[in-house]
Amino acid sequence: MKIACIGAGYVGGPTMAMVALKCPEIEVVVVDINEERIKAWNSDKLPIYEPGLLEVVKECRGRNLFFSTDTKKHVGEADIVFVSVNTPTKTHGIGAGKAADLTYWEGAARLIASVSTSSKIVVEKSTVPVKTAEAIGKVLKRNCQDPNVQFEILSNPEFLAEGTAMEDLRQPDRVLIGGADTPSGQKAIQTLVSVYAHWIPRERILTANLWSAELAKLTANAFLAQRISSINAISALCEATGADVQQVAHAIGTDSRIGPKFLNASVGFGGSCFQKDILNLCYVCESVGLKEVAEYWYQVVSMNDYQKQRFVERVISAMFNTVSQKKIAIYGFAFKKDTGDTRETPAIDVCKGLIRDGAKVCVFDPEVTPEQIFRDLSAPKFEWDRPNYSRSQSHMLENVQVVSDAVAAAEGAHAICILTEWDQFKTLDYQAMYEKMTKPAFIFDGRNILDHAKLREIGFIVYALGKPLDPFLVKGY
Ligand code: NAI
Repeated sequence: MKIACIGAGYVGGPTMAMVALKCPEIEVVVVDINEERIKAWNSDKLPIYEPGLLEVVKECRGRNLFFSTDTKKHVGEADIVFVSVNTPTKTHGIGAGKAADLTYWEGAARLIASVSTSSKIVVEKSTVPVKTAEAIGKVLKRNCQDPNVQFEILSNPEFLAEGTAMEDLRQPDRVLIGGADTPSGQKAIQTLVSVYAHWIPRERILTANLWSAELAKLTANAFLAQRISSINAISALCEATGADVQQVAHAIGTDSRIGPKFLNASVGFGGSCFQKDILNLCYVCESVGLKEVAEYWYQVVSMNDYQKQRFVERVISAMFNTVSQKKIAIYGFAFKKDTGDTRETPAIDVCKGLIRDGAKVCVFDPEVTPEQIFRDLSAPKFEWDRPNYSRSQSHMLENVQVVSDAVAAAEGAHAICILTEWDQFKTLDYQAMYEKMTKPAFIFDGRNILDHAKLREIGFIVYALGKPLDPFLVKGY
């Protein structure tokens, strides 16, 4: 059996590496139009950082795992084609700012149709709007020259989380495979089940109809993001009342109906998926006339924007209503720890908000390159997933510095903002940092990972999300 995967990104690369590792008799080729990315996949400096990924790639690469730009050849030869291309939010036209832009997906489907001389199973790995399989089926059928070629479309959404992708792939809570309710659809489902059954217990491989599988992925992301927005909403109330959001989260999380996960208040959720998938869900709801349902889910995104804005406003108000010309150290730019991914990271909105008020930000992140940070801070909203956006906000960059260690970032700074929960931030020498900073020295812990009592002992004025306010902020002495 030969598998090709179109799209060598955060999903295509790790998922196919795991398939190759667990199924040594299957040849797996990951193809991409991005030459640089493929070159990196073929080197020891992979294009994405994910714990444990390099080891798996090294074990399989050249054996039964290959990375190539020759999309036509490998897609043409494959029995199963996974499509794992990006599905960003549309930036213009009907549905701009909400609907999924399926340009890349349609391009992949046209490519599959044009090179197919044998029947194939086409697997939706990307997150797509419900009913995409119907549209893709039409593109495939109408563009393939060979009448004997049959396409069977499956939906097999990916539930991995960046930072723990390899463990999630090795031992997923479940794998979901949706297919048509026809004999050939069911046969295709069983073919894909047999691939995953190499390492995943059968009871964890769920099968469903196509539309349920497509919608389940959007729903999963909407529910996960909803929990974050819910606890973030409560964090605002905690600050206003003297309650502690961590105590509240612990108290509710011990209820087995609620559960303890995804209850950490933070500066907001990020990542390429949550916002885009909820907006997409809202758009689908609106398109079928479900205005109230769309509005309900839209609040999850609004609350996230509010949380980021609230954080910026807190920094400014705490620092005597002005950050003009003040150096502010930003610890962490990635959207979460253990990844170098910055797509939709709250750090972008927080930095832009502070810079707009005149601050000079100095960023340190252990995994994000300066080039990426400059790129993110000059890209207009929603344009980050397109290679050729115009750098319309590049004046932002005059007030951005990127450094390679935490101490350099703190030197002369008025404040430190923790925006990513990197473990190494917990053990930094804050006493040394304090001595190098301008006084009064502030810490705004946007992830609640530091020992706030200890920091206050050192002399910092500490603001933590959803926690009782620093006495300094309350009494002003
Ligand atoms: P990505 O942007 O890292 O990778 C997509 C790749 O597809 C890019 O390298 C791009 O060059 C390539 N591509 C686009 N059109 C192509 C074409 N016609 N032929 C060949 N290559 C093409 O995106 P990522 O993060 O891997 O996401 C892919 C999909 O998976 C998205 O729909 C996303 O919503 C979904 N997803 C992402 C997760 C994540 O944690 N990043 C988790 C679960 C699902």
